[in-house]
Formats: sequence, C-alpha cells, structure tokens
Amino acid sequence: MSRRVLGSYGVDALIVPVLSIIGAAAFIALGYTEVGFPRNFSYVVAGLLLVQIAIYVHTTVRGRFLLWGKVLAGVPEPEESLDVGCGRGMVLIETLIQFPTAAGVGLDLWRSRTAKGVARRTLVENATQNGVIARTTLQVGDMTAMPFADETFDLVTANIAIHDVDHDEAGRREALAEILRITRPGGYIRIVDIHYVGEYRDQLQVLGAREVKTKSLGINGWYGNPFYASRLVSARKLK
Ligand SMILES: C[S@@+](CC[C@H](N)C(=O)[O-])C[C@H]1O[C@@H](n2cnc3c(N)ncnc32)[C@H](O)[C@@H]1O
Repeated sequence: MSRRVLGSYGVDALIVPVLSIIGAAAFIALGYTEVGFPRNFSYVVAGLLLVQIAIYVHTTVRGRFLLWGKVLAGVPEPEESLDVGCGRGMVLIETLIQFPTAAGVGLDLWRSRTAKGVARRTLVENATQNGVIARTTLQVGDMTAMPFADETFDLVTANIAIHDVDHDEAGRREALAEILRITRPGGYIRIVDIHYVGEYRDQLQVLGAREVKTKSLGINGWYGNPFYASRLVSARKLK
C-alpha cells in the first residue's frame, strides 16, 4: 500500500462480530455461574470468540487495505480501471493511489434499502479526501449488464461484490462474462471474495480467460477466522 487510505468504507461480514460478541458474553456468563460447562472451558471459548473479534477488527480497519495493496502490486499501471460493485470506493481509491496516472470508474447499483445514496456520497467524500476525485468516475449500473463498450479497461477489480448479485449463480456467471467482455485484450482481472471463489475460477476458465489462479490472502483477509476468509482470483484476458 502506497500510504494509508483515508475515509470511511463501511464493514463487511458484520454477522461475525455480532455473533461473536453475543457468544463471548454468553460463555463468560456460563463460566461465571459454572452452569452447563466447566468454568475453564467456558472461559477458553469466550477467549477464542474475543480473539475472533480482534482479527475481524484488524481485517476491517487495516488488513483489507494491506491485502489490496499487495494484490495490485503485481499489476502494471493501467490507463483505465474499473471497480465492480465499488460501494464506498475502497478498492477504486486504493487503485488510484497506487497508480497515480490511472483513471478509475466505480460501478454500483447503490440501491441498498438501508443506505440509499449514503455509500455513493461517502465514495465522493473518500475520493476527495484522498486527492483522487479528478480521476474518479461513478457509474450507476448492474454488473450483469454493464454500460460499457467491449474491451474498455486494462484492469478490472471486484471486492466482496460478485457474491452479492441477487445471491444467484446465473447472475454471478453473467457478471464474470461481463467482466471479461469489458476487459481489454491482455488486461488484468483481480477478484477478491469470501464466497464462490472456486466457482469464479472455473467460470473464468470456461470463458477463455488465461493465467486463472486462486490464492489465499492470509490473516489480512480473515473476517474473524480462516474459515471465513477472502481469497483472490486473478486472471488475464487473452491478447
Ligand atoms: C459488500 S459490498 C462491497 C463494496 C465494496 N466493493 C467494498 O469492498 O467495500 C457489495 C456491493 O456490490 C453492489 N452490488 C450488488 N449487486 C450489484 C449489481 N448487480 N451490480 C452492481 N453492483 C452490485 C452493492 O450495491 C454493494 O455496494
């Protein structure tokens, strides 16, 4: 990572800390009252749940930024980059910081019922704070039918976004086909997700992408524990 990314980027996998806090409180109470389990057992379980919360906080506050810094380190400077399902712009902004001459487009529906409009406004604030707003374009659109011409982008990224497509395999397939369509020949694709990473790899191979690989990203991608971790799918479009 070139420098610390400023701004507010929301949280992913909120269920992990919520359940961990409830679980830890319950096991501390069980340990205190010695109901159900031996006291030491209850305290050990509560301790593990607290460690899980600490790892989740690390990933959210710092790890996911470090992780994307490393993911992008292997990519040559793009002219045009696209972040699919960009939300508040974490990866879009990280990309523009890392590549100071690149232009970046963020695509999202920004349709969340709870935060309608908030994420998009936050993205603009974040990009402004990080000094990259002049190179940032926002595009409202669906990743399964992207409003871009074929072969537009040298780099396409997506972070914890494709699994969100209506929770549907056909939708995810369409999103991957679209990503390949709008990538320039020889261009780079970097997808990080918690779910369906093997499915993305297989589908990109079926679609004719090359250098398709998956990779674990270590503790910086753990949303609490190694069983709920983000992984990378990298690929290139055939020249
Ligand atoms: C979990 S958020 C991740 C946001 C961002 N990539 C990040 O890492 O902070 C998933 C994002 O995907 C977007 N999204 C879901 N379905 C979409 C679709 N069909 N087309 C475009 N964006 C979509 C959501 O609006 C949301 O902003």
